[in-house]
Amino acid sequence: MFRPTILKRCVRSLATVAEEKAPRVKKFQIYRWNPDTPEVQPKMQTYEVDLNKCGPMVLDALLKIKNEQDSTLTLRRSCREGICGSCAMNIGGRNTLACLCRIDTDTSKETKVYPLPHMFVVRDLVPDLTHFYKQYKSIKPYLKRDHHPEDGRENIQSIEDRAKLDGLYECILCACCSTSCPSYWWNQQQYLGPAVLMQAYRWLIDSRDEATAERKAMLQNSMSLYRCHTIMNCARTCPKGLNPGKAIAEIKKSLAFD
Ligand code: SF4
Ligand code: SF4
Ligand code: FES
Repeated sequence: MFRPTILKRCVRSLATVAEEKAPRVKKFQIYRWNPDTPEVQPKMQTYEVDLNKCGPMVLDALLKIKNEQDSTLTLRRSCREGICGSCAMNIGGRNTLACLCRIDTDTSKETKVYPLPHMFVVRDLVPDLTHFYKQYKSIKPYLKRDHHPEDGRENIQSIEDRAKLDGLYECILCACCSTSCPSYWWNQQQYLGPAVLMQAYRWLIDSRDEATAERKAMLQNSMSLYRCHTIMNCARTCPKGLNPGKAIAEIKKSLAFD
């Protein structure tokens, strides 16, 4: 025969199991726009996801929605570990990588997901990065040298010079910073924006590069660089913890004093 204490304990653990299994339904409001039906206005569409059956990141929820509820939902992703930069989007009002962004588990609040702001949209959460990549190409993001090592091997660099590239080379070109920069929103055609400027600086200070004068001359005009007003949204939003605003300040300093 069951003793009352054992019975009570069984009832309590059954209640805990039931509680654990109770669905934790989170609502996601997601921006939708389809270029095949341009007459239909963009809209926010709500999806519900049981957090008990979903991974912890926003990308997990988006893929669950796409796989199980609506295969037409369109987004970019590849690595799912913050390396490729393709899942950049605006989540809960902040530009970030969906694969590194934890779902806010407060189910009383909806999470809003938009494409990166102030960009043309290809479809749903996919921004058109054509101009961004064109700007990146314009700074010649590769080693430029007239002289090559006599042994035909690599261009060596001291440990100290290599260390100067830390905090710059890690950029994954996700465009979270540029699309959070008010100056970039307003002058996107001419202002290069924080991501591209940080890469311009990365090549400017590379001890192996011989095109410093050419690189500086390219930035010496009123629009490419000087539209940065040190608002620092870029550093605040970077999902890799980098500081493009500081790199831009360093370029300004080197143009003024070197
Ligand atoms: S600096 Fe940060 S936010 Fe900007 S493109 Fe690079 S990784 Fe993305
Ligand atoms: S610091 Fe410059 S680049 Fe960064 S957000 Fe502000 S204006 Fe834009
Ligand atoms: S999927 Fe590659 S950075 Fe998010």
